[in-house]
Formats: sequence, C-alpha cells, structure tokens
Amino acid sequence: MSGKNNYFLTTPLYYVNDKPHIGHAYTTILADVLARFHRTAGEEVFFLTGLDEHGQKIQQAADEKGILPQQHCDEMAPRFTDLWEKLHIRYDDFIRTTEDRHKKVVQDILKMVYEKGDIYFDEYTGQYCVGCERFYTEKELVNGKCPQHNKPLETITEKNYFFKMSKYQQKLIDYINDNPDFIQPKHRKNEILGFLRQPLDDLCISRPKSRLNWGIELPFDKDYVTYVWFDALINYVTAPGYASDEKSFKKWWPAVHLIGKDILMTHAVYWPTMLFSAEIPQPKIIFAHGWWLSGESKMSKSLGNVVNPLDLIEKYGVDSLRYYLMREMVLGQDASFTIESFIKRYNSDLANDFGNLFSRVSTLIAKNFDSVIPKYIELTDEENKVQASAETVIKQVNELIAKMRINEAIEEILQFVRSINKYMEQQAPWKLVKTDKPAAARVLYTAAEALRVSALLLQPVMPNRTEIILDTLDAIDTELKWGILKSGTVIKKHSPLFPRIKVTESAVEKVKQTVQENVITFADFEKVELKTALILEAEKVEGADRLLKLQIEVGDEKRQIVGGIAEFYQPEELIGKMIVIVANLESATIRGIESNGMLIAAKKGKELSLIIIDSDNVESGIKIF
Ligand code: MSP
Repeated sequence: MSGKNNYFLTTPLYYVNDKPHIGHAYTTILADVLARFHRTAGEEVFFLTGLDEHGQKIQQAADEKGILPQQHCDEMAPRFTDLWEKLHIRYDDFIRTTEDRHKKVVQDILKMVYEKGDIYFDEYTGQYCVGCERFYTEKELVNGKCPQHNKPLETITEKNYFFKMSKYQQKLIDYINDNPDFIQPKHRKNEILGFLRQPLDDLCISRPKSRLNWGIELPFDKDYVTYVWFDALINYVTAPGYASDEKSFKKWWPAVHLIGKDILMTHAVYWPTMLFSAEIPQPKIIFAHGWWLSGESKMSKSLGNVVNPLDLIEKYGVDSLRYYLMREMVLGQDASFTIESFIKRYNSDLANDFGNLFSRVSTLIAKNFDSVIPKYIELTDEENKVQASAETVIKQVNELIAKMRINEAIEEILQFVRSINKYMEQQAPWKLVKTDKPAAARVLYTAAEALRVSALLLQPVMPNRTEIILDTLDAIDTELKWGILKSGTVIKKHSPLFPRIKVTESAVEKVKQTVQENVITFADFEKVELKTALILEAEKVEGADRLLKLQIEVGDEKRQIVGGIAEFYQPEELIGKMIVIVANLESATIRGIESNGMLIAAKKGKELSLIIIDSDNVESGIKIF
C-alpha cells in the first residue's frame, strides 16, 4: 500500500433492475473501504462503480411496466445511487452502460475486433438463461438447469455473430500461469485453469433485434445489438478514458476488479480474451469474493431471502453495518448474515471494546483534567510498549490491506484497542488521579493517543463515527503515526457512540421482521388503486412485437392502455373481457402511444396470464381490495 501508485478499483456494474441488497452493498462497501485505505496511504485512487442497463431482463421489465426501457432505467437507477449515498460510498465515477461515452467505446472495440477477423457470423443453437443473460454449455449445467438460478433454460436457435474466444485460450492459460496474482484468491485461479483444460467455445456476442432491441447496435450490422456482457465489461476501460482520453487511460489502467464469485467466468475468461483481441493490457487483479448467505443459500432476489441494508442503517447506523460486513467475511469465502451475529459483533467489538475505550478516556479527562488532554512528564516501560504496539499495528494494517485481507486488518486494530483497555485496567488512572496525578496524566495521554491511532486506522471502515472521535480529540486529518496528539487540547463533549444493543428474543424477532423483504404496510397498499376495467377494443402496436393497445372502460371513464401481452393474447379474444388495472399509475408514452394505467397479470417464467374476472355481476370501475 506504500508508494505513490495510482490505484484503480472497480465493482461490477449492478443490474439496474435489481433491488439493491446486502450482497450488492457488500462489494461496494468493500471497494469504498479499500479506496479509502489507499487514499489515506497517499495513493491516487480512482474508484469506479455503476449500472448495467441493457439486455433482455431490462426490456422485459420495461414492457411489463408499459414504459420505454430507458425510462425504466432512469427510474430504477436512483435506488442504487441513493443507497450508495446513505452508505457513505465515495466513488470517483459512476458509469451507466446507456451513456453515450460507453456506447461509443463498445462500438469502437467491436469494430476493431471485427476488422481484425476475430468476429464471424454463424447459426447457433444453445441453452440460454435470461437471469444470467448468457448461453450455457451442457457441461456447465447442473441437473440440466442453470447453475445460478436452478431454473430450466430456453433452447434458442438463431444466426448470430461470434467472438473467436477459442483463439485466445492458450494465451490466457499462459497469462494466468505467468501472473500468479492475476486471479485471486488462489482457489478461483485454479477453478479457471481447470475450466480452461477443456476446449473453449467461441462467444456469441450479438442478439437479433427481432428478439431483443434494447442494446448497443453492432457497428457492422444494424439488425443486431451487442450481447449485454460484451457491452458491460467494456465499461472498465470506458470510464478511465479508453479511446477518448489516452493520458487518463494510461494513468489508471490496469484495474483491480472486485467481483462476486458468481461472475468469475465472465471476468476471468470473457474479459481477458476480449482484451487480448482489442490489444489492451490485462487488468491487474480480478478478485472474486464469496457470497453472503441467508441460512444455507445465496442471498438473492430470485430466492426471496434478501436483507435490505436500509433497514439496518436506520436501526444501527451506517458505520456498524459497514463494520460488520467487513469484519465478518473472510475475503474469498462465503459468510452467513444473521441478525444475531450482527448484534453480537456490534456489542462485543464496537460497544464493549472500541466505544468503551472512547468513553472512558474522554470521561476521565473531562472529570479529572478539566477536559484538557494532560501533559506527561516521564514515560515508563508500559507506555513504550503501547507505542511499540501502535507502530506494529500501523505496519501490519498496511500490509494486510495491500493483500486485501480486510477482516484480519480489522482484527489487528481491535486487538490493539483491547490491549489499551487492558493497559487502562492495569494502570487504573481513576485511582491514580487521587494518589499520583502525573502518573494519571501519563496514562490518559497515552490512552488518548492510542485512541486517536485506532480511530484513524478504522476510519476507512467507519468514516462517520471515527470522525466524531477525532473531532472530540481535535485530531481530524492528523498523521497516522505515534506521538501526534497535542497536550493542552480541549476535548469536546459527545454522546455515546455505540450504545449497547439489548438482546431480547423479541428484539431479534422485531429486527428479523423489519429486514424481511416484500412486507409493506396497509397504508402502502392503500396507495395502489386497483380497479376492474372492461376491454372495448384491442389492436397490435406496429413495430412492437410484445405490445397491445387497448381501449378500456373504467366506470364512466374511457381510457387507453398499452401492455406487453401480445405474445400471449390475440386482440380479438380480449374484447369484452373484464380485467384488473392499476388505475392511479402516472401515464406514460410507450413507442409514441399514451398509456394510462397498467394491466395486472400473473407471471410464470415468460408466460403471462391476465387476471380476468369471471362474473357477469362485476361492472367496470369497481375498486379491488
Ligand atoms: N451486471 C452484472 C455484472 C456486470 S460487470 C461488468 C451482474 N450484476 S448483479 O447485479 O447481479 O451483481 C452481481 C454482483 O453483486 C456480484 O458479483 C457481487 O459483487 C454482488 N452480489 C450479489 N449478491 C451477492 C451475495 N449474496 N453476496 C455477496 N455479493 C453478491 O452480475
């Protein structure tokens, strides 16, 4: 971590469709913590995150809402940016794959790779998972299903463009062998090398517009868009300035990519071969961390077991959440998220150890030295030992962070904090003040200095609360070395930073309930106005295979509504049907057609069935509860 290196760090681009959960928050906090550590060490840092906004899932979701995909992305994006703000994420750039700067670089790279002869046109039949937005080979399937989603795949046959990934197979194997730190941790590197023992297939990098048009158009065939992974990975070079600002690109590239193990293959096989073809140097490190599990299974939206970070922030503060996530996961392995372990960790490390040291030191100085940090006359062996261990911990933390062993770095800092609490107990300055005031001054100065060092060390993990500690000691932005704290400084008043969480069965239950997904209050539900509607006319929308335009009657009112149901219903069969709509949804313009409201349908896989009321007694415009 030492030296004036430039440090370029990335997170995956999250699917804009997803609701951010602890898993997404984890990678982003991890990147933020690493970025802050490196900035503190005097390095120049470029921390990039953003959103993946093209592909089938986005188009489907937009169609279901009856709005344009870009509008859908624009509506969804703030859920991520707002959360990052709440989590105190300090990124340097936020990239969305629908931005022009990115589309241009994707097209430039595609053009170059095509002209070089690394892209060809062919017919292909494959097993496709919409969730992953990728084809799977037979050998990758588990019980014939997608290994990530445990769902059957779609068999798709079509003519497409292919990237000659196989051409770079040996080059990639050699590169991984020659650069042992390229893929980390080691077991992930071995996994990729194992995979590369089999012949590598070429990569289908296009989608015909007739099936999907929400993507970046291929520069050499306007009937196709770019496959979403080929598009999204390129963000890592767009943002630092590839093909737009060579100086900046040279300054930052290559990157350290932080990813979850679910997307190792795309990052450690697709991406490096794309870079070989485009003649761009390889990333510095691809680091795949494990999953946050809920019980035994991965936390994910499709499994419905996600923890919403906002609930925890509200209840326990941002820093506690950041601390827990960083302390609890051994980088590279899976970890289980439970409220019980969260509370336990908070109480032991933050309330007992760190918070306790802070309140003891500040209370004793306030009470016995008029809130002025005392001056010491002479130090004993004990203080020299404290100084030596502070110097050791600073060094160790630097080394551990350089190896991305954050949880161990945190544990070292906490060991140091615990040793200071012990030192306080042995020295008992609350007794010394009565018998030997200079000795009490010596101990309290030393403990306060140790507290300052610990707060600075923990600052990248808990930027908020440590700032309060440093502010109390009037030591914000002070240097991370021993002996900086000034005697004579007046310390400020503060409230307890990490009040103990009382653990009762019901408290845990209550928290569990609040972190459950998909629970809304009755008041939330009441905001949605569901009404019956009678279909008077229905017709196809030209140029949009999925859409139908309906004229409906909602009580006395006539309305027009557009829905993504054309694949499932013929216009004629809908006339006279009584359906259910969301009546108070703001109107939208879809493919130039106004839509007032939204149809309600049951969805199974790709199949949609409208909710149709099978009773002659129900008129249109009736409210549904
Ligand atoms: N859009 C792609 C990535 C493109 S990168 C050019 C994607 N997006 S995602 O929204 O599904 O995000 C996946 C990433 O979120 C994982 O790699 C990981 O960083 C994080 N996590 C999502 N769920 C997670 C857990 N349960 N546990 C830990 N992190 C996980 O894939």
